[in-house]
Amino acid sequence: MYMVLKWFLTNVSGPIIIWYLKKDRKYSYRGIDLLIKKGVFHPGFFFSTKFLLNTIDKENVSGLKLLELGAGSGLISFYFAKKGALVLATDINQKAIEGLEFNKLNLNSNIQILYSDLFSQIPKQAFDIIIVNPPFYPKNPKSQEEMAWFCGAEFEYFYQLFSQICDYLHSNSKVFMSLSEDCNIEKIQAIAFESNFKFSLLQKKRILGELNYIYQIFKS
Ligand SMILES: C[S@@+](CC[C@H](N)C(=O)[O-])C[C@H]1O[C@@H](n2cnc3c(N)ncnc32)[C@H](O)[C@@H]1O
Repeated sequence: MYMVLKWFLTNVSGPIIIWYLKKDRKYSYRGIDLLIKKGVFHPGFFFSTKFLLNTIDKENVSGLKLLELGAGSGLISFYFAKKGALVLATDINQKAIEGLEFNKLNLNSNIQILYSDLFSQIPKQAFDIIIVNPPFYPKNPKSQEEMAWFCGAEFEYFYQLFSQICDYLHSNSKVFMSLSEDCNIEKIQAIAFESNFKFSLLQKKRILGELNYIYQIFKS
């Protein structure tokens, strides 16, 4: 059953979605109206964003410093800013940054936006919450757009992430990450472990045939 669904999604709906995303598109979720620029990860078609948002929604974020690393459309960032978090949204994709700036004005939001390759441009500071919906396919991205999907042939994104994140945490910070059965979770956990981090599974959900996971990451 799941195999048939996956075949359909890959071979039939996949090409339709690729065609649809060749233009800027409007998208709304839970009161957040966004323009999703062409070339930016679309939270309506790829379910990890909403799964992550709904899992973290149990947290009281009011007044907390929240970093969304690789914010893409900014749905998560704008949502939690509306709930009172002090949000920094970063991305390495210039189109994502343009979209974040546009949507910030449109939503009259107070999020801060920063173009940054992971932590490279983020001034050292401790965040209460860090949210990451990472690229996880082991391939070298050929464009900024592909950086939404590919973490480098040797998982470079994750080596960089786990070797740097420590400088942005305090003892009670919470780090949330979404992953899927389509990625090499064991490898990613092993990379985290090298930097003394361990994963704890918070939520697991099958969405359109694909098992999605939300982890909280702890210093071990
Ligand atoms: C899977 S998308 C998730 C986007 C958004 N967080 C969401 O949940 O809808 C991954 C995002 O990370 C960004 N990204 C990839 N590599 C990055 C890096 N080295 N530094 C900052 N952002 C990066 C991509 O441009 C993309 O917007």
